[in-house]
Amino acid sequence: MHDVEAVVLVGGKGTRLRPLTLATPKPMLPTAGVPFLAHLLSRIQAAGVRRVVLGTSYLAETFSDAFGSGAQLGLEIEYVVEEHPLGTGGGIRNVAKHLSADNVLVFNGDVLCGTDLGAVVDTHRRTDADVTLHLVRVQDPRAYGCVPTDDSGQVLEFLEKTEDPPTDQINAGCYVFRRSVIESIPEGRPVSVERETFPGLLAAGARVSGHVDNAYWRDMGTPADLIHGSADLVRGVAPSAALAGPVGESLVLEGAEIAQGALVFGGTTVGRGARIGAGARVEGSMVFDGAVIGAGAVVEHSVVGTGSRVEDGASVRDTVIGDRAVVGAHCELRDGVRIWPDVVLPPHGVRFSADV
Ligand code: GTP
Repeated sequence: MHDVEAVVLVGGKGTRLRPLTLATPKPMLPTAGVPFLAHLLSRIQAAGVRRVVLGTSYLAETFSDAFGSGAQLGLEIEYVVEEHPLGTGGGIRNVAKHLSADNVLVFNGDVLCGTDLGAVVDTHRRTDADVTLHLVRVQDPRAYGCVPTDDSGQVLEFLEKTEDPPTDQINAGCYVFRRSVIESIPEGRPVSVERETFPGLLAAGARVSGHVDNAYWRDMGTPADLIHGSADLVRGVAPSAALAGPVGESLVLEGAEIAQGALVFGGTTVGRGARIGAGARVEGSMVFDGAVIGAGAVVEHSVVGTGSRVEDGASVRDTVIGDRAVVGAHCELRDGVRIWPDVVLPPHGVRFSADV
């Protein structure tokens, strides 16, 4: 695949993941010990692609600061910044002059996926397509863009989120574009590939192929998916060559301390220098660097932000705690609570599904 280039769209603001994305773009959130994007880049590299262009906008410099030339990952990475976000299609168009390959793999930068990228490119070539979309079959397609195909694999239409989807095939956020098609996207204004480019190509009679499979797939756009996807990486359910340690029930990074009698499992990552107190129970969670979980505390399916503290006996379920926040002793948080950075919750507070 040396003759294929890759584009990864990483310019979104990640509003659904606030407050985690206030200071860190979604694709750079620590996931199983490395920035999330490192997992995707490792799969691109393993597929034999060498040149990757990142379409950045929000907090653009964090990407080049982290990945530099890409040499450490065995890649050549170029960064293209949109001053004003141009959307998914506009972002692809904006990198066109940095591409030279005939066929270009394009990724949404927030998708965790186990598909065989070489097979997606093969489908594109075999069907002589203008664009090929990776489509994945999911149990509940209602929350996604639904994409029916005919017997030859030609895409028939694009349906936005619908209560009554005609197929379980959804747009997986990974495409192969013929480069000339990228050049035909209007320049200099926001464009959505899903809402404008793909329907427009179909209306114009273009060959738009679907490559359907049942690979592991998860869009990391919401806190629940981010937490679940991170646990899948730690447990080896989601494939990655970039994991910061062996797969297992937990991933404990350098300098972290886990007191005797604490239970840490379900794909939990314990960040660098973090501490888990005696008798604490931490399941399927992301504990960021320097965070502290007190004695006897319970943390389930939650994010505990960098340098934040969950004090003794607190119980935190399905919660996102921003950086440097403090959850007082014996507090109870659950059902999608989000704690903003630096907030201090006094002991014994109880919160359900609220932003604090
Ligand atoms: P939400 O605000 O939570 O919806 O997140 P988001 O801004 O990341 O949007 P979405 O999840 O729809 O984006 C899918 C992928 O496209 C992500 O990897 C984004 O970083 C990327 N993306 C979204 N909008 C833009 C844009 O305007 N420019 C570029 N370059 N990438 C974008």
